[in-house]
Amino acid sequence: MLIKIKLFTISALIFLTSLVRSDEGMWIPLLLKKYNIEDMQKKGFKLSAEDIYSVNQACMKDAIVIFGRGCTGELISDKGLVLTNHHCGYGQIQSHSTIEKDYLTNGFWAMNNSEELSNPGLTVTFLIRMEDVTEKALEGVKVSDDEVRRERLIKQNITKLEEENSEGKKYEISVKPFYYGNEYYMFVYQTYKDVRLVGAPHSSIGKFGGDTDNWMWPRHTGDFSLFRIYADKNNNPAEYSPENVPYKPKMFFPISLKGVKKGDFTMVFGYPGTTEQYLTSHAVKMIMEDSNPHKINIRKIKLDIMKADMDASDAVRIQYSSKYAGVANYWKKWIGENKGLKKLDAVRKKQELEERFSNWLKTKREMNTIYGNVLVNFEKIYREFTPIQTTYDYISEALLSLDLIKFAGNFRELSGELTEDQLIEISNSLKGKAKAFFKDYNLPTSKKLVTAMIKIYRDSVSTEYHPEAFKMINSKFKGDLNKYVDYLFENSILVSNEKLDGFFEKLSVKSAKKILEDPVYKIYADIVNVYVDKLLFALRSNDSKLNTLYRQYINGLREFQKDKIFYPDANFTMRITYGQVDDYYPNDGVFYEHFTTLKGIMEKDDPAIYDYDVPQKLRELYAKKDYGRYADADGSMHVCFIASNHTTGGNSGSPVINANGELIGLNFDRNWEGTMSDIMYNPDQCRNISMDVRYLLFIIDKFAGASHLIEEMNIIE
Ligand code: ARG
Ligand code: GLU
Repeated sequence: MLIKIKLFTISALIFLTSLVRSDEGMWIPLLLKKYNIEDMQKKGFKLSAEDIYSVNQACMKDAIVIFGRGCTGELISDKGLVLTNHHCGYGQIQSHSTIEKDYLTNGFWAMNNSEELSNPGLTVTFLIRMEDVTEKALEGVKVSDDEVRRERLIKQNITKLEEENSEGKKYEISVKPFYYGNEYYMFVYQTYKDVRLVGAPHSSIGKFGGDTDNWMWPRHTGDFSLFRIYADKNNNPAEYSPENVPYKPKMFFPISLKGVKKGDFTMVFGYPGTTEQYLTSHAVKMIMEDSNPHKINIRKIKLDIMKADMDASDAVRIQYSSKYAGVANYWKKWIGENKGLKKLDAVRKKQELEERFSNWLKTKREMNTIYGNVLVNFEKIYREFTPIQTTYDYISEALLSLDLIKFAGNFRELSGELTEDQLIEISNSLKGKAKAFFKDYNLPTSKKLVTAMIKIYRDSVSTEYHPEAFKMINSKFKGDLNKYVDYLFENSILVSNEKLDGFFEKLSVKSAKKILEDPVYKIYADIVNVYVDKLLFALRSNDSKLNTLYRQYINGLREFQKDKIFYPDANFTMRITYGQVDDYYPNDGVFYEHFTTLKGIMEKDDPAIYDYDVPQKLRELYAKKDYGRYADADGSMHVCFIASNHTTGGNSGSPVINANGELIGLNFDRNWEGTMSDIMYNPDQCRNISMDVRYLLFIIDKFAGASHLIEEMNIIE
């Protein structure tokens, strides 16, 4: 590196350093040896690439799982104990909760194996191995092939790979494109299906600060929960059975009590979901000026409606808490993302890169023939695409995501030709869904949401894209939206449990089709028709055009910036990211320390606010400073810390690992000022937020009294 730099002029040197921004990147475990391990070791990592990923020996990758559908988890004992976030186990914790046994509010701790609770549908998935299958996936594909032919060939090749590698369905095979399909990697997975709840803290610890503190630093959330994997007596996956035994992992993480200092090496190992680092200036502009503002605006209206009703009634607060959190999470993220992109001047930075790329092309004739038109085409496609994207944002955010519309969608199954047996099966499943739906449904809130969302859609989207059912608003109700919504709610069977019960009672093969005349079902069907008939084709064809262009563009960039190592965008495959524990300046004149302590929890303590109502026992432990061996050297109880690891959604529950490969933290969030890292990373501002593992152990041991769990673990003092 040093020798190379000497050959550059001063301006080239500045240019080069701006390309290799430290700490940015989500790296492929298989390629660490080639690209990263030297750099990692230079930054303090003491182990080898084989310790992280290997197919020849037990290694860290064997201690990491996909938890459920969108989180990460890690093994922390030789008895299959899995650690993940509270918000990742939230659905399970909630499903076991009743008024009498309110585990959400009071926490849950199994004091022995027999008290652990099974969770139908919950799985954890191990990565057995990964492989670069670019050649096999692209076999027979020619550069001149159009996207349709290319896709068809690749699909065939992937089917072949799946057949060859699944070992008779023992493994699931997933082949994914990297760098927009310039490369393909195969992932061989094994899934365990008996995963039981072991422990979860009070929500006022696990979700401390709620949506107010979400995406924020300084943070004091104890966002963790514990599960255990069970296997058959041969340690293989099995459906739930009382005969199953705790899974024996190939590897689990030792836990360090040493704590973290500013500058310490940290690494996060997990399943980041989606990033878009290589978007062009046109795309970033569209996101900042159109997509994000529209989506933020729509969600804000929903949140205000829900909040008003939740504040007025405890029952509604409980019914809508999870829905509210779901809407609020990305609403807040997009606000942060837009601010961050603006502060970074992201569009201009992208334009500058594009300009440099274009100028370089002008000096390279053969490159210019391949890549010369790429940027012009991007400009054209994004110009045409923006209104379609906007309509898509409105239909998906305002209409298709209404809980009532989603619920109505379940009834599509009744619209086909059915036998008696099929009807019984479908109606049983619908009854189950209805029960769950109405438990968390409040008609007046729903009505307000439906009215507001139809209004914003009508006001913002051209009539060409209005669902057929909207015509009635003018024809029958003289434009009075409220009257129309009254009519919907009075005449639909989908808005009340009683009406629906009546429908199920009289249900026959013949009467099933009556659902097609239900006014709420009709709206649902008309919305889907708009989506399928008027949007889907345009969306798909744009996607495919953009995909081709990005595949060329990123190749061009790789030619242009020969010295830069390009990491692939996150695509929910296993990645490593590394950085260091670090503080930051969020704004002019403001400084944020790299850690928080229990003192901050007491400062925020407020019994009047649900999200800040600290459990009495925690107050007492704080008063006595009863932290045992979990205290920091400074005597305080450290709660969370931040570092410069490049993470995203899906990294929730990922282990944060120190230079010796020991667990020091549990990743659960990012800072607000850094949420634009999904599009553009800034080492000065981007921080991942983790629970200090010592606070986690303190809660298990001192607060919950579940010390038998601590004994299972390998704790390094
Ligand atoms: N912001 C974190 C992550 O994206 C935590 C989300 C937990 N949900 C919440 N609304 N508080 O997913
Ligand atoms: N809370 C996020 C998750 O569920 C992680 C935060 C982020 O986006 O980095 O994965």
